Amino acid sequence: MTETNLESLKIEAKKEIENSFDLGQIGEVFRKYLGKQGEIARILRSLDSLPKEKRAEIGKQANDFKNFINLKIEEKIKELKEKSGKGSGGKEWIDITAPGKKPSVGHLHPLTLIRRKTEEIFQTMGFSTIEGPEIESVWYNFDALNIPKDHPARDAWDTFYLKDGMLLRAHTSPVQIRFMEKNNPPFRIIVPGRIFRHEATDPSHEFDFYQLEGLMVGEDISAANFKAVIQEFYRRFFGKPVKIRLIPSFFPFTEPSFQVDMSCVNCSGKGCPACKRTGWLEMMGAGMVHPNVFKYAGLNPKGLTGFAFGMGLDRLAMMKYKINNIRLFHSGDLRFLQQF
Ligand code: DAH
Repeated sequence: MTETNLESLKIEAKKEIENSFDLGQIGEVFRKYLGKQGEIARILRSLDSLPKEKRAEIGKQANDFKNFINLKIEEKIKELKEKSGKGSGGKEWIDITAPGKKPSVGHLHPLTLIRRKTEEIFQTMGFSTIEGPEIESVWYNFDALNIPKDHPARDAWDTFYLKDGMLLRAHTSPVQIRFMEKNNPPFRIIVPGRIFRHEATDPSHEFDFYQLEGLMVGEDISAANFKAVIQEFYRRFFGKPVKIRLIPSFFPFTEPSFQVDMSCVNCSGKGCPACKRTGWLEMMGAGMVHPNVFKYAGLNPKGLTGFAFGMGLDRLAMMKYKINNIRLFHSGDLRFLQQF
């Protein structure tokens, strides 16, 4: 290879590029000069057989040549694209070298993510996931949970009533009864599910939201067991140690009943707007299963103990992702959903 050879090759290549009218032709020119078996590769391979003084010089020229062709090809591609864009006589073509458009695949709803994560953590602690019907009878939603007719406690659940003694379940607790009717202790279950309340909505209230019920029954189950399970759950869910405290409360289906507070994960208990400067967040209702509930489910309460709890999954999602309006979950607003 000599300088003159390279010079004439350059003229030839330039002509070929100029005479290309579509991408196919440009591709051929590219392969001819810059491909693995192309002219440049051939020149570089032949460098070894040249006298030493010549090697560096020809090598440099070959490189210049390569850059020159690259540039010319790029210019030509641009020109061809512009032409076809304007539709000024250029044939329509598809740029098969352009990077493809990524098809958008769907993704999971934030509440689904939270439900799955919660199930996963409880499953590692031996809890099975159980489901129950969203249309429920008054018996399962209230009576069997020791909430008598005409008792003011019933007002705590603003219920959507349907015909014939049916209703939209106002909590996931009825599934406790359904499960205990068919299974003998000991057992540990969780029940994630959709519930309905006849309530006006605001940033922290919805009429249609999600709960997760928990129930662990056996011979020697204590409130200390409950505290340990829940503390471990929150530690794993939020990825850091949290403190919890139990405050006396009332639910007809548990005795004693507690409200469970968790140290604010936002400010680690120091006090911030998220916890209304108290350092604590109200997380769920819970308690030791009332003997009447065992009876209503057909179990003999003698020697049987257990704890139960019910937490709002939307609330958990709001805390995890720092969402300040519960209504966003069902808004169908893609700007919100696409962030997960
Ligand atoms: N069902 C209750 C509610 O909807 C929450 C709850 C409280 C569930 C205490 C329980 C429990 O299992 O033991 O407000």
